[in-house]
Amino acid sequence: MKKIVVTGGAGFIGSALVRTLLQRAEGEVEVIDNLLTGYEHNLQELAGRVQLHKLDIRDARAIAPVIRGAGVVYHLAAIPSVPRSIADPVPSHEINIAGTFNVLRAAAEGGVRRVVYAASSSAYGDSETLPKKESMAPRPQSPYAVQKLVGEYYASVFYSCFGLETVALRFFNVYGPRQDPSSPYSGVLSLFMKHLLNRTPPTIFGDGEQSRDFTYVEDVAALCVKAAQATGAAGKTYNAGNGGRFTLNFIWDALQKMEGVQLPPVYGQPREGDVRHSMADITSAVAELGHAPQCSIEEGLRRTLEWYRTTA
Ligand SMILES: NC(=O)c1ccc[n+]([C@@H]2O[C@H](COP(=O)([O-])OP(=O)(O)OC[C@H]3O[C@@H](n4cnc5c(N)ncnc54)[C@H](O)[C@@H]3O)[C@@H](O)[C@H]2O)c1
Repeated sequence: MKKIVVTGGAGFIGSALVRTLLQRAEGEVEVIDNLLTGYEHNLQELAGRVQLHKLDIRDARAIAPVIRGAGVVYHLAAIPSVPRSIADPVPSHEINIAGTFNVLRAAAEGGVRRVVYAASSSAYGDSETLPKKESMAPRPQSPYAVQKLVGEYYASVFYSCFGLETVALRFFNVYGPRQDPSSPYSGVLSLFMKHLLNRTPPTIFGDGEQSRDFTYVEDVAALCVKAAQATGAAGKTYNAGNGGRFTLNFIWDALQKMEGVQLPPVYGQPREGDVRHSMADITSAVAELGHAPQCSIEEGLRRTLEWYRTTA
C-alpha cells in the first residue's frame, strides 16, 4: 500500500484526518509532527497503526526521507494562530513559510503524486463582501494570514514550475473533538467548551456579533481526502467551509441551553487582526472536489461538547 504522510498529524485537525485515512484504509499513514501544539495522546488509540516521526518541518534534511515515495502528503503542520503571529512573528514565519517550502520541495524531489495544503480563510481579511469566493483578491490582515497565503502561492507554483500536484484548501474556523483549549491562542469554540464545563463566563472580544463559518472537523478531514483524489484540481485553491455563518453570541447561547446554565459572557476589546464576518462560498469545492459537509452546527456542538465532557 502507498505511504501517506500527514504533517501536523498529532494536532487537532491532523489527528482527525489520520483517523479518517485509517478508517478508509487509504494507505500506510506516517505523521511528521514536532509536538509544538499537537499531542501524542491525540493518536493514542491508533498506536501501532500509525508511525509518528517527531521531526520539525524547518529541518529539510530530516523530513525528506519520510516524505520521499509517498503517494499523498497532507501538509497541516503550522503555528495556526493570528494573535500568536502578532505577539511572536518569527517562529510562525519560519514554520508557516519556510517549513511549507521544505515540505513542498521534499515532495517534488521525492516523487510524491499530490500535496494537499491546509490554507486559511484568513486570506480574505476584512473585505465586507460575503460569501467569500476564491476569485476575490486576498487581503491578509496579520502575519499568520500572509504566511498561509504564501504557502498557497508556493503550492500553486510548485505545480506550475515543478509539476508537483498540489491542492490548497482554505479552512474556515474548524471545530470539534481534540481542539486544544489550553492556550489563550486556542480556537474560540474549544475555549467556550472549557468555560461551559467549568461554569465560568468566557471573554468574547468585541460585541459577540462577529460571525464565522464554523466547520466540523470530520467534514474537513473528508474533504482533504477528496482533494487528494479529484481530477482537474491540481494547482488550485478551494474554500473548505460549511457555507453558513453563526455569531459568537448565537453559539454561546446555544451551548448554555444545551447545558441548562446561564453564564453571561464578559465582553472585551476587539482583537487585533480579527475579521468581522466570514462565510465561504463552497460552490467550487462542491462541484470540483465533491465537498459535502454532513454535520449541522447543533449536531457538531453536541458531539464536541460530549467529547470535552468525557475526555478533556
Ligand atoms: N483550526 C482552524 O480553524 C484552522 C483554520 C484555518 C487553517 N487551519 C490550518 O490547519 C492546520 C492544522 O491546524 P490545527 O487547528 O489542527 O492546529 P494544531 O495546532 O492542533 O495543529 C498543528 C500541528 O502542527 C504541528 N507543528 C507545529 N509546528 C511544527 C513544526 N515546525 N514541525 C512539525 N510539526 C509542527 C503541531 O505540533 C500540531 O500538531 C494548520 O496548518 C492551520 O494553519 C486551521
